[in-house]
Amino acid sequence: MLTGRRVLLVISGGIAAYKSLDLIRRLRERGAAVRCILTRGGEQFVTPLSIATLTGERVFQDIFSLTDEAEIGHIALVKECDLVVVAPATANLLAKMAMGLADDLAATALLATDRPILVAPAMNTRMWDHPATRANLATLEARGVHRVGPNTGWLAEGEVGEGRMAEVPEILAAIEGLLAGGPLAGRRALVTSGPTVEPIDPVRFIANRSSGKQGHAIAAALARLGAGVTLVSGPVALADPAGVRVVRVETAAEMLEACRAALPADVAVCAAAVADWTVANRSAGKRRKQAGAPPPVIELAPNPDILATLAAGPQRPRLLVGFAAETENVVGNAVEKRARKGCDWIVANDVSAGTGAFGGDANTVHLVTASGVEDWPALPKTEVARRLAERIAAAVQP
Ligand code: CTP
Repeated sequence: MLTGRRVLLVISGGIAAYKSLDLIRRLRERGAAVRCILTRGGEQFVTPLSIATLTGERVFQDIFSLTDEAEIGHIALVKECDLVVVAPATANLLAKMAMGLADDLAATALLATDRPILVAPAMNTRMWDHPATRANLATLEARGVHRVGPNTGWLAEGEVGEGRMAEVPEILAAIEGLLAGGPLAGRRALVTSGPTVEPIDPVRFIANRSSGKQGHAIAAALARLGAGVTLVSGPVALADPAGVRVVRVETAAEMLEACRAALPADVAVCAAAVADWTVANRSAGKRRKQAGAPPPVIELAPNPDILATLAAGPQRPRLLVGFAAETENVVGNAVEKRARKGCDWIVANDVSAGTGAFGGDANTVHLVTASGVEDWPALPKTEVARRLAERIAAAVQP
């Protein structure tokens, strides 16, 4: 609930402005007070009358309106709110924010505010992909501006691409995350990350190329939405994510034990690249070369499947998400893996040589759920994590 919280909503000129009307309704239903600044561009898409009716407040449009300045003024407008939401945020308004321009009421309010700002970008794919927009976004994010979306889908121009404004439930989840302790407040999440390491002897081991970047980013994203997160991680060269309880393990057996100890959890995301086999004839002392003797034989024994064990266990998390690292037939294998392991969702990614998924910063994934397969575009791992966390938050809403 957002009872008593005050949102200043800036609606700029994009077709997605129609969704902002629904956003106002949903915010009001949750008890928030909403005031709205409508830009000149925004006026082309939605009317002040619709907004005034939904907010129950007058709509603020013109910086030079004496009545506004006399009654409230733009400084008071930005002071009397807990969060400024820009939805839709056009490429133009984002550019103005990045530059610090103050040539209309919206831009002036955004420059004058010391409140958190959340932007929901909405624009044509080419504008979104343009280096200028990307640089503006990077500048704004470096200044602490929060962002939700955009999504991939049908755009108003009749083409498919990235640039579509986030859906209202996603924007609401982001607002709740910033204002009410997060949509996952009070929820417990378990995340596995990194490789496991299976010792051959005290100095040698079998491991894999997992960097832990994706799993760690997911733990951080869930924590940002308010979840209490336990991250069970194999050896990685990454800093612990802020606000997350980290349990360090080496082997698959230790990882399973740590996961069991972290239950009950509402959500578990198994992003670790768990070794399928452990060394059955692990030696207590260092194995030595012996002149004339054949090389030693390493005997393997299967490791427990952590994801499948959680799925079949008495404390199965309500939402169980697995990963599928594949080199061929990515989606087909992931669909089969989801059924075989008994989890709810599978995030499938192609880890063939050359994709850069292992160890890299970007990932191209497919989300496999009971209702089908979604192909996500190539995204930074942090962005995959943010989107997945938002989806998880929406799925575990009471
Ligand atoms: N997983 C696990 N425990 C294991 C192996 C895998 O929890 N012993 C989890 C991973 O964390 C991931 C999912 O299972 O969420 C799929 O991992 P993947 O390596 O793609 O699949 P495998 O189980 O190894 O299956 P296959 O060898 O058929 O690809």
